[in-house]
Amino acid sequence: MKVLIAGGAGFVGSHVCHELVARGHHVTCVDNLLTGSMDNIADLDGRPGFDFILSDVASAPTVETDFILHLASPASPVDYERMPLETLSANSLGTWRLLDIARETGAKLTFVSTSEVYGDPLVHPQPETYWGNVDPVGPRSQYDESKRFGEALLMSARRVNGVRATIVRLFNTYGPKMRLDDGRVIPELLGNALAGRPLVLHGSGSQTRSFCYVSDLVRGLLLVGLDYGNDGEIFNIGNPSEITIRGLAERIRDLVRSDLPIISTDARVGDPARRCPDISKIQARYGWQPDIDLDEGLRRRSPLLSASASRPDRRGARRRRLRIRSASAIETNRTFTTV
Ligand SMILES: NC(=O)c1ccc[n+]([C@@H]2O[C@H](COP(=O)([O-])OP(=O)(O)OC[C@H]3O[C@@H](n4cnc5c(N)ncnc54)[C@H](O)[C@@H]3O)[C@@H](O)[C@H]2O)c1
Repeated sequence: MKVLIAGGAGFVGSHVCHELVARGHHVTCVDNLLTGSMDNIADLDGRPGFDFILSDVASAPTVETDFILHLASPASPVDYERMPLETLSANSLGTWRLLDIARETGAKLTFVSTSEVYGDPLVHPQPETYWGNVDPVGPRSQYDESKRFGEALLMSARRVNGVRATIVRLFNTYGPKMRLDDGRVIPELLGNALAGRPLVLHGSGSQTRSFCYVSDLVRGLLLVGLDYGNDGEIFNIGNPSEITIRGLAERIRDLVRSDLPIISTDARVGDPARRCPDISKIQARYGWQPDIDLDEGLRRRSPLLSASASRPDRRGARRRRLRIRSASAIETNRTFTTV
């Protein structure tokens, strides 16, 4: 099968690319390296069945494909606070362009959305049917609202043009290839612990999250993404085991260095109080559930910590002799009118 992965050089996307190539599929990865890195996919270079196109998703060229996964968006709070307009564009214009490609090729598009569409939820745990409690203009709105727009666009394109499309809403995920400086809580706490620094909580630490190990997530994402039979549906993917952020910090401290202090600093504006997926739908449909619990995932921390500790570097693509097809020569005129 031919699969187009937008955002395939990022944390989740690179795992998806590796898994699909290992399964014998032909993968075309489109990425502008905004938050991703060629290091994440360097070992796929030259492998049969893998192509890389350096392009913004909003001007991605049409390629022959059976399935499209749209993962291209800044995803960590640090990244989307730094790049609000890029985030809005990736989930709106980027989704629009991929819907064009899906219509031209007959491929099915899976839009990778987020638990952030539930905002600061008033329903717990969150089922796919919950409409959310979102601040439309707050400091996280560029992420939350652009994902909500992407979802609305997908459903409208289905209704108007019959494009086959599905939405997955990912909850917090962790594992190898996360950047240590991307601001997400597990790499941040682990990075501090390993450096012998205090573990800093944003707020009291009583807010809860649930963390899914990346291999579990990729398994679920591909079950949903590579199925033509779930057109128009929405699936949560995440680990329903809920933990407070303070509890997480204590687990990490116990794992790394038990004498480190845990301290609180100002809460992040708009930080949701609770977050936990209801995964009964994907469980019932596909028999999917996470296999790796938090302790096991954290014990596998070495690959996580061997990930790049620096900001993504667009020059990395040129320094390495990767076989890159640049889309600049075939950049479209961005008339996103056909959805
Ligand atoms: N990791 C999580 O916990 C999590 C949770 C919920 C949702 N998600 C969603 O999963 C997807 C991947 O997240 P991630 O954690 O791998 O993030 P990431 O930042 O590591 O990866 C995103 C990738 O998309 C690329 N990208 C960004 N904007 C682009 C654009 N305009 N054109 C082309 N490429 C672009 C980046 O360069 C990067 O390679 C995102 O859509 C995110 O919203 C992730």
